[in-house]
Amino acid sequence: EIVARQNTVMRVLGIETSCDETGVAIVDTAPWEAGKPAGMGLLGQALYSQIAMHIDYGGVVPELASRDHIKRIIPLINQVLKETSGDLKDIDAIAFTQGPGLAGALLVGASVAKGMALALNKPVLGIHHLEGHLLSPLLADDANIQFPFVALLVSGGHTQLMKVTGVGEYSILGETLDDAAGEAFDKTAKMLGLSYPGGPAVSNLAKAGNPNTHQFPRPMKHSGDLDFSFAGLKTSVLTQVKKVAAAHDGHLSDSAKADIARGFVDAIVEVLVSKSINALKETGLTTLVVAGGVGANEQLRESLGQSCSKEGFSVHYPPMHLCTDNGAMIAFAGAMRLKKNPQLASKDWGFDVKPRWPLDDLE
Ligand code: KG4
Ligand code: ZN
Repeated sequence: EIVARQNTVMRVLGIETSCDETGVAIVDTAPWEAGKPAGMGLLGQALYSQIAMHIDYGGVVPELASRDHIKRIIPLINQVLKETSGDLKDIDAIAFTQGPGLAGALLVGASVAKGMALALNKPVLGIHHLEGHLLSPLLADDANIQFPFVALLVSGGHTQLMKVTGVGEYSILGETLDDAAGEAFDKTAKMLGLSYPGGPAVSNLAKAGNPNTHQFPRPMKHSGDLDFSFAGLKTSVLTQVKKVAAAHDGHLSDSAKADIARGFVDAIVEVLVSKSINALKETGLTTLVVAGGVGANEQLRESLGQSCSKEGFSVHYPPMHLCTDNGAMIAFAGAMRLKKNPQLASKDWGFDVKPRWPLDDLE
């Protein structure tokens, strides 16, 4: 029977292929054992982003994504092994993203992980992509985060507030009823003629915008629950884009675009901050952890920082480069779960993926 080693130092290889980034990393649990920040256990990582390939299509093309993962994954694993002066035989367990995500893309990571585990006779564990994001703030060098906490998960595909009681113990407090926050950023970017993925571009453009030109709606801010909705905000942006363009012979000047970007960012940030603060108050918890691609957003970080310090809450983020998809968060989540429960490691070599998978439905 193959089980992960407990109470000993473990070295875990993590593989992420759920969308348009191929990520590989190796974490070692030695620093955790010594009571040091978990981030010090990140021995090495490599990432290949497919953004340039998908840019012409304005979004991720699933079939191209899967094929590219196949091309990148083995060279990336070799690169990380080389950089960490490691050998495959030093790997104690393998963690891979099992879902949610694009089915074909997930299958690449799953088949490589299971194949390697079979060949090496090592335990392998499928990880929920959002759990990777959720635990990634603990990878910060100075992370001093105690369970339980509230997590705001804001990525391209998800927007959720979660109560996190411990590793593997997650309950959903609220989530988006339609578009995800990252999706709203990406769609706004498209309407403003910015390229995919638009989050960072919209954020930068907003800095030059006038905050008083557009007052967009703050959807569901006063709904009394912790759910979100961004489809209406997107429609308001579209309406304004058309209106401003119509008044200027169909042309949107850079400053007009910046004003719209500013109005959009102010609206979405205000809702995200207000719901996060409500979630902390309702649960009685005092720690907020922010994860997912939109967690890299400067305006969100600034506003959350102000509101949390006013209310006496602490707020934590992953290191900037680990906000968007990466292998480190998967290796890390795998190591944390295996340390907690070695029996989780799979002993069957068949592989399945879960393109749709609620985070409160873990084994
Ligand atoms: O977590 P992630 O890499 O992928 C998913 O799991 O979906 O998140 C990607 C999303 C994209 O929608 C991207 O536009 C958004 O995160 N994003 C940002 C920023 N950086 C990435 N949105 C706003 N501001 C940013 N700085
Ligand atoms: Zn993600």
